[in-house]
Amino acid sequence: AKKKSILDLMKMKKEGEQVAWVTAYDFPTAMFVEQAGMDMILVGDSLGMVTLGYKGTIPVTMEDCISHCQAVRRGAPNTWIIGDMPFGSYQSSDEQAVDNAVRFMKEADVDCIKLEGGVRVKTRIRAISDAGIPVIGHIGLTPQSSGQLGGFKAQGRDVKNARGVIEDALAVQEAGAFAILVEAVPPELTAFITQKLDIPVYSIGAGACDGQLLISSDMLGKFQAFTPKFVKVYANVAEVEINAFKEYVKDVKEGVFPSDDYVYHITDPIEEFEKL
Ligand code: KIV
Ligand code: NA
Repeated sequence: AKKKSILDLMKMKKEGEQVAWVTAYDFPTAMFVEQAGMDMILVGDSLGMVTLGYKGTIPVTMEDCISHCQAVRRGAPNTWIIGDMPFGSYQSSDEQAVDNAVRFMKEADVDCIKLEGGVRVKTRIRAISDAGIPVIGHIGLTPQSSGQLGGFKAQGRDVKNARGVIEDALAVQEAGAFAILVEAVPPELTAFITQKLDIPVYSIGAGACDGQLLISSDMLGKFQAFTPKFVKVYANVAEVEINAFKEYVKDVKEGVFPSDDYVYHITDPIEEFEKL
Protein backbone atom coordinates (compact mmCIF):
# COMPACT_ATOMS: atom_id res chain seq x y z
CA ALA A 1 0.00 0.00 0.00
CA LYS A 2 1.05 3.63 -0.59
CA LYS A 3 2.29 5.64 2.38
CA LYS A 4 -0.35 7.92 3.91
CA SER A 5 -0.06 11.69 3.80
CA ILE A 6 -1.69 14.35 5.95
CA LEU A 7 -4.25 14.76 3.17
CA ASP A 8 -5.17 11.06 3.38
CA LEU A 9 -5.67 11.38 7.14
CA MET A 10 -7.94 14.42 6.65
CA LYS A 11 -9.86 12.59 3.96
CA MET A 12 -10.31 9.56 6.22
CA LYS A 13 -11.75 11.80 8.93
CA LYS A 14 -14.10 13.45 6.44
CA GLU A 15 -15.27 10.12 5.06
CA GLY A 16 -15.55 8.52 8.48
CA GLU A 17 -12.86 5.92 7.87
CA GLN A 18 -11.16 4.95 11.12
CA VAL A 19 -7.37 5.23 11.41
CA ALA A 20 -5.69 2.21 13.01
CA TRP A 21 -2.26 2.64 14.55
CA VAL A 22 0.04 0.89 17.00
CA THR A 23 3.42 1.52 18.51
CA ALA A 24 6.48 -0.30 17.20
CA TYR A 25 10.06 -0.04 18.36
CA ASP A 26 12.08 -2.49 16.30
CA PHE A 27 12.69 -3.67 12.73
CA PRO A 28 10.76 -6.98 12.75
CA THR A 29 7.68 -5.55 14.48
CA ALA A 30 7.66 -2.63 12.03
CA MET A 31 7.77 -5.12 9.15
CA PHE A 32 4.84 -7.13 10.53
CA VAL A 33 2.83 -3.98 11.25
CA GLU A 34 3.32 -2.74 7.69
CA GLN A 35 2.45 -6.17 6.27
CA ALA A 36 -0.76 -6.08 8.34
CA GLY A 37 -1.81 -2.86 6.59
CA MET A 38 -1.65 -0.50 9.57
CA ASP A 39 -2.31 3.18 8.77
CA MET A 40 0.40 4.65 11.03
CA ILE A 41 3.13 3.67 13.50
CA LEU A 42 4.08 5.52 16.67
CA VAL A 43 7.63 4.95 17.90
CA GLY A 44 6.54 5.88 21.41
CA ASP A 45 8.82 6.84 24.25
CA SER A 46 6.95 3.96 25.90
CA LEU A 47 9.95 2.14 24.42
CA GLY A 48 11.60 3.00 27.74
CA MET A 49 9.14 0.81 29.60
CA VAL A 50 8.42 -1.95 27.10
CA THR A 51 11.83 -2.45 25.47
CA LEU A 52 14.35 -1.00 27.95
CA GLY A 53 12.71 -1.97 31.24
CA TYR A 54 12.41 1.45 32.88
CA LYS A 55 9.54 2.08 35.32
CA GLY A 56 8.40 5.13 33.34
CA THR A 57 9.30 7.23 30.30
CA ILE A 58 11.39 9.91 32.04
CA PRO A 59 14.85 8.32 31.43
CA VAL A 60 14.31 7.93 27.67
CA THR A 61 16.79 9.98 25.61
CA MET A 62 16.74 11.52 22.13
CA GLU A 63 19.37 8.94 21.14
CA ASP A 64 17.06 6.08 22.26
CA CYS A 65 14.17 7.52 20.26
CA ILE A 66 16.21 8.27 17.13
CA SER A 67 17.76 4.82 17.06
CA HIS A 68 14.40 3.05 17.47
CA CYS A 69 12.80 5.31 14.84
CA GLN A 70 15.58 4.39 12.42
CA ALA A 71 14.98 0.68 12.98
CA VAL A 72 11.23 1.09 12.52
CA ARG A 73 11.71 3.12 9.33
CA ARG A 74 13.92 0.34 7.92
CA GLY A 75 11.17 -2.16 8.66
CA ALA A 76 8.26 -0.02 7.48
CA PRO A 77 9.44 2.14 4.57
CA ASN A 78 5.87 2.74 3.34
CA THR A 79 4.10 3.61 6.59
CA TRP A 80 3.43 7.03 8.17
CA ILE A 81 5.77 7.10 11.20
CA ILE A 82 5.40 9.33 14.24
CA GLY A 83 8.47 10.17 16.30
CA ASP A 84 7.69 10.72 19.98
CA MET A 85 9.59 13.54 21.67
CA PRO A 86 11.06 12.24 24.94
CA PHE A 87 11.04 14.06 28.28
CA GLY A 88 13.70 16.75 28.28
CA SER A 89 13.74 17.22 24.51
CA TYR A 90 11.21 20.10 24.42
CA GLN A 91 10.72 21.28 28.01
CA SER A 92 13.38 24.04 28.05
CA SER A 93 12.46 26.30 25.15
CA ASP A 94 10.79 26.57 21.75
CA GLU A 95 14.29 26.53 20.19
CA GLN A 96 15.17 23.27 21.90
CA ALA A 97 11.87 21.78 20.76
CA VAL A 98 12.47 22.80 17.13
CA ASP A 99 16.09 21.55 17.19
CA ASN A 100 15.03 18.12 18.45
CA ALA A 101 12.04 17.85 16.13
CA VAL A 102 14.42 18.63 13.27
CA ARG A 103 16.72 15.82 14.46
CA PHE A 104 13.80 13.34 14.22
CA MET A 105 13.16 14.44 10.63
CA LYS A 106 16.78 14.52 9.45
CA GLU A 107 18.24 11.52 11.31
CA ALA A 108 15.28 9.14 11.55
CA ASP A 109 13.16 10.01 8.50
CA VAL A 110 9.91 10.18 10.49
CA ASP A 111 6.81 11.81 8.98
CA CYS A 112 5.80 13.85 12.00
CA ILE A 113 6.43 14.20 15.70
CA LYS A 114 4.24 13.96 18.80
CA LEU A 115 4.68 15.76 22.09
CA GLU A 116 2.73 15.78 25.35
CA GLY A 117 0.66 18.64 26.73
CA GLY A 118 -1.89 21.26 25.75
CA VAL A 119 -2.01 24.84 26.99
CA ARG A 120 1.49 24.67 28.46
CA VAL A 121 3.18 23.53 25.21
CA LYS A 122 1.25 25.81 22.86
CA THR A 123 4.30 27.82 21.79
CA ARG A 124 6.30 24.58 21.31
CA ILE A 125 3.70 23.17 18.93
CA ARG A 126 3.52 26.50 17.10
CA ALA A 127 7.31 26.71 16.73
CA ILE A 128 7.72 23.12 15.45
CA SER A 129 4.76 23.47 13.13
CA ASP A 130 6.14 26.79 11.80
CA ALA A 131 9.35 24.93 11.00
CA GLY A 132 7.29 22.86 8.57
CA ILE A 133 7.14 19.74 10.71
CA PRO A 134 3.70 18.15 11.21
CA VAL A 135 2.80 17.82 14.90
CA ILE A 136 0.40 15.50 16.73
CA GLY A 137 -0.65 16.77 20.16
CA HIS A 138 -1.16 14.39 23.11
CA ILE A 139 -3.48 15.27 25.99
CA GLY A 140 -5.41 13.60 28.81
CA LEU A 141 -3.14 11.12 30.55
CA THR A 142 0.36 12.30 29.67
CA PRO A 143 2.86 9.73 30.99
CA GLN A 144 5.84 12.13 31.08
CA SER A 145 4.00 14.21 33.70
CA SER A 146 2.48 11.25 35.53
CA GLY A 147 4.29 12.45 38.66
CA GLN A 148 2.26 15.64 38.55
CA LEU A 149 -0.93 13.66 37.81
CA GLY A 150 -0.30 11.31 40.73
CA GLY A 151 0.32 8.24 38.56
CA PHE A 152 -0.92 6.64 35.33
CA LYS A 153 -4.51 7.74 35.99
CA ALA A 154 -7.49 8.37 33.72
CA GLN A 155 -8.16 12.11 33.24
CA GLY A 156 -11.24 14.26 32.68
CA ARG A 157 -13.63 12.14 34.72
CA ASP A 158 -15.10 15.07 36.65
CA VAL A 159 -16.33 18.37 35.23
CA LYS A 160 -13.47 20.51 36.55
CA ASN A 161 -10.79 18.16 35.20
CA ALA A 162 -12.68 17.72 31.92
CA ARG A 163 -12.66 21.49 31.40
CA GLY A 164 -8.86 21.40 31.57
CA VAL A 165 -8.71 18.62 28.97
CA ILE A 166 -11.00 20.59 26.64
CA GLU A 167 -8.83 23.71 27.05
CA ASP A 168 -5.79 21.58 26.18
CA ALA A 169 -7.52 20.20 23.08
CA LEU A 170 -8.40 23.68 21.83
CA ALA A 171 -4.87 24.94 22.54
CA VAL A 172 -3.33 22.07 20.55
CA GLN A 173 -5.50 22.77 17.52
CA GLU A 174 -4.95 26.53 17.75
CA ALA A 175 -1.19 26.03 17.94
CA GLY A 176 -1.20 24.32 14.56
CA ALA A 177 -1.14 20.59 15.29
CA PHE A 178 -2.62 18.57 12.42
CA ALA A 179 -4.10 15.95 14.76
CA ILE A 180 -4.47 15.17 18.45
CA LEU A 181 -4.17 12.04 20.53
CA VAL A 182 -6.37 11.79 23.61
CA GLU A 183 -5.28 9.27 26.24
CA ALA A 184 -7.38 7.67 28.99
CA VAL A 185 -10.33 10.03 29.21
CA PRO A 186 -14.05 9.08 29.24
CA PRO A 187 -15.60 8.42 25.81
CA GLU A 188 -18.19 11.14 26.48
CA LEU A 189 -15.40 13.72 26.75
CA THR A 190 -13.65 12.36 23.65
CA ALA A 191 -16.91 12.63 21.69
CA PHE A 192 -17.33 16.23 22.82
CA ILE A 193 -13.75 17.12 21.82
CA THR A 194 -14.13 15.36 18.45
CA GLN A 195 -17.25 17.34 17.70
CA LYS A 196 -15.60 20.60 18.81
CA LEU A 197 -12.33 20.26 16.82
CA ASP A 198 -11.71 20.31 13.08
CA ILE A 199 -8.51 18.23 13.21
CA PRO A 200 -8.62 14.42 13.53
CA VAL A 201 -8.92 13.16 17.11
CA TYR A 202 -7.32 9.80 17.90
CA SER A 203 -7.80 7.74 21.03
CA ILE A 204 -5.75 5.50 23.24
CA GLY A 205 -8.07 4.35 25.96
CA ALA A 206 -10.48 7.19 25.24
CA GLY A 207 -13.35 5.61 23.28
CA ALA A 208 -14.62 6.28 19.78
CA CYS A 209 -13.38 9.18 17.61
CA ASP A 210 -11.39 9.27 14.34
CA GLY A 211 -8.99 6.42 15.07
CA GLN A 212 -7.45 4.12 17.66
CA LEU A 213 -3.95 3.53 18.99
CA LEU A 214 -2.70 0.66 21.13
CA ILE A 215 0.77 -0.15 22.42
CA SER A 216 1.88 -3.19 20.45
CA SER A 217 3.54 -4.80 23.48
CA ASP A 218 0.22 -4.55 25.37
CA MET A 219 -2.00 -5.93 22.62
CA LEU A 220 0.46 -8.75 21.89
CA GLY A 221 0.72 -9.77 25.54
CA LYS A 222 4.43 -9.00 25.84
CA PHE A 223 4.48 -6.29 28.52
CA GLN A 224 4.25 -8.00 31.90
CA ALA A 225 4.37 -5.14 34.46
CA PHE A 226 0.69 -4.17 34.09
CA THR A 227 -2.07 -4.03 31.47
CA PRO A 228 -4.27 -0.91 31.42
CA LYS A 229 -8.05 -1.45 31.43
CA PHE A 230 -8.35 -0.04 27.90
CA VAL A 231 -6.10 -2.65 26.28
CA LYS A 232 -7.67 -5.43 24.25
CA VAL A 233 -5.16 -8.28 24.26
CA TYR A 234 -5.03 -9.96 20.83
CA ALA A 235 -2.25 -12.48 21.40
CA ASN A 236 -0.16 -14.06 24.13
CA VAL A 237 3.29 -13.69 22.64
CA ALA A 238 4.97 -13.97 26.05
CA GLU A 239 3.55 -17.48 26.42
CA VAL A 240 4.66 -18.45 22.91
CA GLU A 241 8.20 -17.21 23.59
CA ILE A 242 8.51 -18.71 27.06
CA ASN A 243 7.29 -22.10 25.82
CA ALA A 244 9.74 -22.05 22.92
CA PHE A 245 12.64 -21.18 25.23
CA LYS A 246 11.60 -23.92 27.68
CA GLU A 247 11.46 -26.53 24.94
CA TYR A 248 14.88 -25.49 23.69
CA VAL A 249 16.38 -25.71 27.20
CA LYS A 250 14.89 -29.21 27.53
CA ASP A 251 16.21 -30.29 24.11
CA VAL A 252 19.71 -29.07 24.90
CA LYS A 253 19.78 -30.70 28.34
CA GLU A 254 18.54 -33.99 26.91
CA GLY A 255 20.87 -33.89 23.91
CA VAL A 256 17.93 -33.92 21.51
CA PHE A 257 19.21 -30.75 19.91
CA PRO A 258 21.14 -30.50 17.63
CA SER A 259 20.06 -33.62 15.78
CA ASP A 260 21.45 -34.54 12.36
CA ASP A 261 19.14 -32.07 10.63
CA TYR A 262 20.86 -29.11 12.22
CA VAL A 263 24.57 -29.72 11.45
CA TYR A 264 26.95 -29.23 8.51
CA HIS A 265 28.58 -32.50 7.45
CA ILE A 266 32.16 -32.84 6.25
CA THR A 267 32.92 -32.90 2.52
CA ASP A 268 36.15 -34.96 2.70
CA PRO A 269 36.45 -38.57 3.96
CA ILE A 270 36.58 -38.90 7.75
CA GLU A 271 40.07 -40.53 7.51
CA GLU A 272 41.47 -37.23 6.22
CA PHE A 273 39.96 -35.45 9.21
CA GLU A 274 41.46 -37.96 11.63
CA LYS A 275 44.94 -36.85 10.47
CA LEU A 276 44.27 -33.26 11.57
O1 KIV B 1 4.85 6.44 24.05
C1 KIV B 1 3.74 6.01 23.72
O2 KIV B 1 3.56 4.84 23.36
C2 KIV B 1 2.62 6.93 23.79
C3 KIV B 1 1.27 6.33 23.93
C4 KIV B 1 1.08 5.86 25.33
C5 KIV B 1 0.24 7.31 23.56
O3 KIV B 1 2.83 8.12 23.81
NA1 NA C 1 4.81 8.71 24.59
